[in-house]
Amino acid sequence: MPRKTTLTDLRAARQTGRAAAMLTCYDFSTARLMQAAGVRFLLVGDSAANVILGHETTLPVSLDFMIEISAAVRRGAPLAMVVADMPFGSYHQSARQGVKNVTRMVQLSGCDCVKLEASEKQAKLIGLLADAGVPVMAHLGLRPQSVNLLGGYRAQGRTAREAENLVRTAVILERAGAAAILLEAVPPQVAQAVVETTKVPIIGCGAGPACHGHVIVTHDALGLTPSAPRFVPALADLGTAMKVAFADYLRLVESGEYPGPQHAYEMSEDELMKFSRGRPLASAAAQQD
Ligand code: KIV
Repeated sequence: MPRKTTLTDLRAARQTGRAAAMLTCYDFSTARLMQAAGVRFLLVGDSAANVILGHETTLPVSLDFMIEISAAVRRGAPLAMVVADMPFGSYHQSARQGVKNVTRMVQLSGCDCVKLEASEKQAKLIGLLADAGVPVMAHLGLRPQSVNLLGGYRAQGRTAREAENLVRTAVILERAGAAAILLEAVPPQVAQAVVETTKVPIIGCGAGPACHGHVIVTHDALGLTPSAPRFVPALADLGTAMKVAFADYLRLVESGEYPGPQHAYEMSEDELMKFSRGRPLASAAAQQD
């Protein structure tokens, strides 16, 4: 009997050296397929802003939307560990605002963990959430919610100073109570240093092999986005497969091949007879009106 995947399993990835495979997921049907395929760690990323809603950045996505899709993923993959992203603006005003919104996310979506794009400024919030029993994944390195401050989507920690700051922040957030750390777009040596100076599971997103788990944006790996970052493996070309399927539908409809008799609902002979008998009467009544 398959059992529910929890934070203990993510911690086991660190202890056993068997890396955890995490995928982003934004809807019920895909979550169901991921669980059926054996994927045990799902991230409802705010990259939904890009790949689902078509925004250029992750900034416009709302907390309500993130809650709604996290709940859908939860329903599709009840056995997976579901990590829900807290969107821009939902935890930046104050620790109080953060606790309130994370509480809403946890209660309404049923997620197992929340992810925050974090700096030292979030240490207090992470501590309060840990005290309340909420596992937090602290997202460091490239933080897309800060794209305007970072001056674009660029790899982080590429100078010795930046790398030292990143390792220091990871240690501070671990001490504050972070249950896991996600490193996005950092050199492998920096990830290695974070692994060596912390005890929590480190999940990489373009951060090299030292991490205890890896996450990618599913749409990039399935060929559903126009281009993907270099670290993303090409798992399938569903973009081409979908275009072929859509063009096929167009051809079937336009040629009259669809719908055929095999697509029709049947009516019994008896009912059909009554129906045909009634119709001339009905049209006569309409003429009298
Ligand atoms: O929102 C997201 O999908 C993420 C991953 C890129 C790590 O944060």
